[in-house]
Amino acid sequence: MSVIFSGIQPSGTLTIGNYLGAMKHFTHLQDDNECYFCVVNQHAITVPQEKKALKQNSKSLAALYLASGIDPDKSTLFIQSEVPAHAQLGWMLQCVSYIGELERMTQFKDKSTGKDAVSAGLLTYPPLMAADILLYGTEVVPVGDDQKQHIELTRNLAERFNRKFNDIFVMPDARIPKVGARIMSLQDPTRKMSKSDSNQNAYISMLDEPNTIIKKVKRAVTDSDGVVRFDKENKPAISNLLTIYSLCSGKSVEDIEAMYEGRGYGDFKAELGEVIAETLRPIQERYHELITSSELDDILDLGAEKANRKASKMLAKAERAMGLERKRR
Ligand code: TYM
Repeated sequence: MSVIFSGIQPSGTLTIGNYLGAMKHFTHLQDDNECYFCVVNQHAITVPQEKKALKQNSKSLAALYLASGIDPDKSTLFIQSEVPAHAQLGWMLQCVSYIGELERMTQFKDKSTGKDAVSAGLLTYPPLMAADILLYGTEVVPVGDDQKQHIELTRNLAERFNRKFNDIFVMPDARIPKVGARIMSLQDPTRKMSKSDSNQNAYISMLDEPNTIIKKVKRAVTDSDGVVRFDKENKPAISNLLTIYSLCSGKSVEDIEAMYEGRGYGDFKAELGEVIAETLRPIQERYHELITSSELDDILDLGAEKANRKASKMLAKAERAMGLERKRR
């Protein structure tokens, strides 16, 4: 039994990259562990968000967590801004972070390079993420490959805090899937699939209609040799599609290669579109039931209550360790 924490930003509708790299793995962890899953809306505001869209995306993400199989009787599902301890510990951890180490974060560099107005929050995002994780005594953080560096920083901050103040934080480990940890863009296989991509053909959203999915897969870039074979180096686009096919169908890459031997990319892409649509169909059905029900608010109210109870204990310990409490609570 371990404590598990993961978060997803409500900054647009999730892609199958988010699903295959992270969300899909959460449900298997619920039976034997103490799990916390968070809609990290305070992370989303590090870049400008339209307020109505942010509110809707937060609810939509919570519904997707549930539709993908998160069971509120087993896991705690909540919205970050409803648990103030995250921002409170986030501030304290900013004060033990160095500007240099924050500037070295790949995500900061990617999101700030070439921009005129970069929020201070974009730079101090990682200490807030460290707070998310450390508040719960988290041992395992299931994430995609792009979050590895943030979890290493979380470990460094925890270690620094423990050494300077008091040994209170548990050292978390990232759990990154062996396959699917970095699903690539359908339009450029050298770039990660991202929900904030300006080209909608570059990603498949978890809420895309079957026809849209089939069209996007047909338009996905490939190479010109026409052979369905996994070769990440020389055939990155087809290898990415094979990975998606394998994860959605449960078939091995070798079996899929054998199925399409002597057939062109046309058949492969048409059938891959169907396979993805079929994977998302039950999730989308459940999502549409949940998004219009009052059940969702009840679950999130209860989640915030449970998360607050747990997080406030660690926050009190951290405040005591730093000398921020006036009298023992
Ligand atoms: P976010 O919202 O960008 O992504 C959510 C999860 O999806 C994974 N992911 C991918 N996996 C495979 N292929 C892709 N193309 C792909 N794109 C995204 C991410 O690795 C992630 O697991 N900083 C985090 C949110 C966060 C968090 C946390 C995560 C805030 N606090 C605490 C874990 C623990 C982020 O921006 O994820």
